[in-house]
Formats: sequence, structure tokens, C-alpha cells
Amino acid sequence: MGATIIDGKAIAKEIRAGLAGRVECLKQSGVSPGLAVVLVGDDPASQIYVRMKEKACRELGITFFRHCAPTAVGENYLIDLVKELNADARVHGILVQLPLPAGLNPFTIVKQISAAKDVDGFHPENVGRLCTGVGGGFIPCTPAGILKLLEISAVPISGARAVVIGRSNIVGRPTAMLLLHEHATVTICHTRTVNLAEECRRADILIAAAGSPRLVTGTWIKPGATVIDVGINRLSDGRLVGDVAFDEAAAVAGKITPVPGGVGPMTIAMLMSNTVLAAERSLASRGAVAESEA
Ligand SMILES: NC(=O)c1ccc[n+]([C@@H]2O[C@H](COP(=O)([O-])OP(=O)(O)OC[C@H]3O[C@@H](n4cnc5c(N)ncnc54)[C@H](OP(=O)(O)O)[C@@H]3O)[C@@H](O)[C@H]2O)c1
Repeated sequence: MGATIIDGKAIAKEIRAGLAGRVECLKQSGVSPGLAVVLVGDDPASQIYVRMKEKACRELGITFFRHCAPTAVGENYLIDLVKELNADARVHGILVQLPLPAGLNPFTIVKQISAAKDVDGFHPENVGRLCTGVGGGFIPCTPAGILKLLEISAVPISGARAVVIGRSNIVGRPTAMLLLHEHATVTICHTRTVNLAEECRRADILIAAAGSPRLVTGTWIKPGATVIDVGINRLSDGRLVGDVAFDEAAAVAGKITPVPGGVGPMTIAMLMSNTVLAAERSLASRGAVAESEA
């Protein structure tokens, strides 16, 4: 194996340690950061993800509010719940765990979340801020985590050729936007891409976010490239693998993330980071209101 492993678990731990001081500062200023998660239905993977988020909050001293609803819940109930959470001063971040059960449109619910509490970064205002480069919004957690991994691993982005496999609103598109803002030359690939292997072989930075086990083989990778594997795929024998055939890829790549232990822990760390940021912004806006009233 030639590649350096990018240890997402260790990097995420450092980020969370850095957040602990900011949580303490907020508490000293009378603000106790709070995250509300809305979980609909009984999808086992979603339940695991919500438990992981709860654990991370508890470790950091962020108050966690869990709201569960049955699969058959109506859209209006969820909209009313989100509006209540928008108005709740104890809640600084709100996220609706996706995917929602069939029949519920995620956009209808997510666009009701106050943009200032949308710590997942999926509200149209935050998406617009990201796409235009205006900034000041919330960046979706997985893409933010990917960029952090590249930054901390000192991977040059400006001028690099980056290939993103996947064009979802959660991972592929926002990751491509962030890479573009960092001046990479970005290609977004998907199921209609002709000759995916050829596209990947041109990449200095390859982001695999297809949800297809071991789609990317060693021969698809440019020697020395950085490979970020976002995929989380459960095999029939129970094993968890990424979208990249790790051993083959690691023999060719310069740097590579493992699965598990790569992007996954970063997603949670960035959610914690967005929640702390939301609480800091609410404190700052309280200060601004007090000043304008003085
Ligand atoms: N580590 C983490 O924290 C984290 C967070 C989120 C997601 N994930 C994982 O990342 C993966 C992607 O998630 P997602 O939500 O973006 O999935 P998604 O919504 O299903 O999107 C997958 C994307 O990949 C493309 N694609 C699928 N198979 C392909 C193939 N064989 N060749 C080329 N393109 C292909 C699809 O193309 P079309 O648009 O043409 O259909 C689509 O754009 C999943 O394994 C998910 O579990 C991990």
C-alpha cells in the first residue's frame, strides 16, 4: 500500500475538542447550544445516525431534542413541529433526518426550517448562498467535512482537476460547489456519464459519492491522486464498504480515506460545528438587538 491514510476519525476528534471551548464560552454568556432532530418512521439506518448525533451532542454539552413521528405522519404535523422549533429559543439547530418515508416531500418540510437554524444546509436560502458564493449560510455537513479533510491533509485544490461521482443535493452537488470555490476544475459524474473510468483517471482529487460498493477500482485512479470515499454500503455478509475498492486504490493513490473512519466521523463533527455556529450567531444577533435598542 503506497497511499497515506487520511484518518477522519482522528481529525474529527480534534475538531470536536476545538468546539468544546466554544460551547463553554457560549454557556458563560448564558447560551446553552441546542440541536433538535426530527426522526420520522423506523428506518434502522436513520435511527443509528440519530443516536450517533445524540451521543456527539451529549459529549460536547449540546442539548439534544429528539422528536419522533410515525411513518404515517401527515405533512402538516411536521410543518407545525418545525415552526414550533423555529420559535423555540432553546433550539439553535434543527434537522430533519433524511430520507423521509415515501409520500413525504423533504423539500416541503426542509424549506419551513428557519434558514438561521438549518444546520444541515439544505434550506433553499443556504443552498443559494453556497451556489452563488455569497457565503454566510450553513454548508451541508458531509461536503464541509470533505473539504476539511482535504484542507487538513494539505491537499492542493486550486488548479487541481477534481472529479465528483454523484450529483445528489446532500453530497455530490454541494461538494462540487465547494471545490469550485476553492478554484478546482470540477467534473460532476453520474449514471449517464459516458466512460466514468476515463473521467476518474484524470482526477487529482477523486470524490466517490455514488452509493455503489467498490465501484472505483485501482485502474480508475491517477497515480498519486487523493481519493475521498463517501460511500457507505452494507454488503450481504454484513460488512461495511465504501464506493472505492480500498486495497487496489491505496496501492495507486497518494492519499485515501478509509470506510469506516474517513468521511463519516467528519459529517457528525461538522454538524456539531454548524450547531455551535448557529448558537454563536444567535448570541451575536441578540447583542445587536440590545445595542440597537439602547
Ligand atoms: N459518510 C457520510 O457521512 C455520508 C453522508 C451522506 C451519504 N453517504 C453515502 O454516500 C453515498 C452517496 O449518498 P447520496 O445521498 O449522495 O446518494 P444518492 O442520492 O443515491 O446519489 C447517488 C449519486 O451517485 C450517482 N451514481 C450512482 N451509481 C452510479 C454509478 N454506477 N456510476 C455513476 N454515478 C452513479 C447517481 O447518479 P444519478 O443522479 O444519475 O442517479 C447519483 O447522482 C451513499 O453510499 C451514502 O450512504 C455518506
